[in-house]
Amino acid sequence: ETLAKATKGKFLMGVAINMQQVNGVNPVESDLIANEFSAVVAENCMKPQPTHPQENKYVWDDADKFVAFGEKNKQTVTGHCLIWHSQIGRWMFVNDSGKDVSPEVLKERMRQHIYAVVGRYKGRVKGWDVVNEAFEDNGTYRKSKFYQILGKDFIKYAFQFAHEADPNAELYYNDYNVETPAKCDAIVQLVKELKAAGCRIDAVGSQSHMHMVNPTLEATETSFKKLKAAGVHILITEWDVSILPSPYDGANISASFKYSKEMDPYRDGVPADVQQKWNKRVLDMFGLFLKYSDVVDRVTVWGLNDAGTWLNGFPIRGRMDYPVLFDRKNQRKSVVDEMI
Ligand code: XIL
Repeated sequence: ETLAKATKGKFLMGVAINMQQVNGVNPVESDLIANEFSAVVAENCMKPQPTHPQENKYVWDDADKFVAFGEKNKQTVTGHCLIWHSQIGRWMFVNDSGKDVSPEVLKERMRQHIYAVVGRYKGRVKGWDVVNEAFEDNGTYRKSKFYQILGKDFIKYAFQFAHEADPNAELYYNDYNVETPAKCDAIVQLVKELKAAGCRIDAVGSQSHMHMVNPTLEATETSFKKLKAAGVHILITEWDVSILPSPYDGANISASFKYSKEMDPYRDGVPADVQQKWNKRVLDMFGLFLKYSDVVDRVTVWGLNDAGTWLNGFPIRGRMDYPVLFDRKNQRKSVVDEMI
């Protein structure tokens, strides 16, 4: 049984993939992606910086290959992401003298970017993370360049432009720590405002970068209830469960890092009790996703295996993590058998 087959009819089971995987550098990985998952998202190649490094300059090679890879494997392809404060060229916000552009100019640049990317893959990408990470954890707007120049309306404009560029594409708002009550409430308020303004919004993406304790099951379920009540679907867009000490669980990571004296404390194997705890955490969360499968449309793991996870080196440079469903040798972890 594969993850894709086991979840069929409940939700799409997705994975974020990198260009080596798209290009088949390691065929084992490309085959696992093709066989185990029903959806793919690009880990980086569709972001603003790689697709639109300068004004009037677009680079499509990688994104084209990524979309073709998903189509070849009959997978649902998600676009990530159109408007984000990170991984975006600074040119977007400045004029020739290096000063902030006017609201009109930024809005027009946003339009051009969104029309170009969404238009290119019209009918081939099922839905887009239109705006990524617009809120702080306390529920206030992140003071990004978009916000500073355009105010919160930048979000509405992004959704309008995306809908104009592909009226059939689903449109999502995506963020992390959605389980934090203040942040969840702010997102619900945004959903209401977008709907009141006549914008299409199909789902909220909860990135779901999780730790060993937090967010709790209860906090996660509460966020699902709030989103469901707001009349949007839910996507688990970037799921991983770090096995390492985290400030989110009350750990002082720099202290524990020094204590471990090495980058990879589990190099010779994760201790059985720690692995057990991680397995339970993954199973509990997956059970919750299944419980809400009437509104959870997709569960996407952020990376195929522990070797390639972005958490190797984040938030501590060089520190190795074990947060996803396949290990460093591309073996499916035993917990997957219990999930499916
Ligand atoms: C990460 C990628 O995994 C890394 O390879 C890259 O260096 C930085 O971005 N939230 C998001 C994702 O929405 O796009 C980020 O992906 C992880 C956090």
